[in-house]
Amino acid sequence: MRRFGGSRGNEQLTAIVAALLVPLLLAEAATLLNVRSLLTVHAFIGMLLVPVVAVKLASAGWRMVRYYAGSEEYVRRGPPQLAIRLVVAPVLVASTIVLFGTGVALLALGQTQGSLVGLHKASFVVWVGAFGLHFLTRVGLLWRALRPRVPGISMRLAAATLSIVAGVALATLTLPSMDHLQDGVSGHVGFDER
Ligand code: HEM
Repeated sequence: MRRFGGSRGNEQLTAIVAALLVPLLLAEAATLLNVRSLLTVHAFIGMLLVPVVAVKLASAGWRMVRYYAGSEEYVRRGPPQLAIRLVVAPVLVASTIVLFGTGVALLALGQTQGSLVGLHKASFVVWVGAFGLHFLTRVGLLWRALRPRVPGISMRLAAATLSIVAGVALATLTLPSMDHLQDGVSGHVGFDER
């Protein structure tokens, strides 16, 4: 266990993946400026994000599991502050799952309107609030967690790289469905009509 860096290694993996998420989430946010004409790009980045977010949730979840299992070094490190533990983190995790889950479902079903779109938008509103709080309370920790030399760094970098490779593969494999989705909205706004 120690050769992976233990609890400090876990903190560093969470931070490495967080640092990858920042530009990807910014790019996804940029597509919202004109989501109907950028639907393919929106869906591509969204699918790319799925494995990266999954690693982030797994790494953060591992800390929680180890803490509640009574692992000494995780107990010594302590849990996040009470408000984060009881409110921000659960709302962020739940809204992330609904946001990405509905996004994937819309792509699979080829839907661009209806109640699933409503749920996707509603979960986004909740997610923005929770994520904003998460970002503001966590961004200061990033540098502190990224800097130290903790054993197992190559494993952590490999895990982060693999999540990106898996994301690109997933997004590329689902490109035909994205094309179909884009055709759906482009038809409504008058582009791409045959
Ligand atoms: C979809 C996006 C994200 C989700 C779902 C997510 C989720 C979580 C969760 C559930 C935790 C554990 C609870 C906590 O400590 O607050 C956590 C920890 C953390 N997150 Fe995020 N996060 C996301 C993006 C980001 C981004 C963009 C940053 C960049 C600032 C970030 C930085 C951190 C840091 C530094 C920690 C604490 C690591 C530790 O002390 O172990 N997260 N994240």
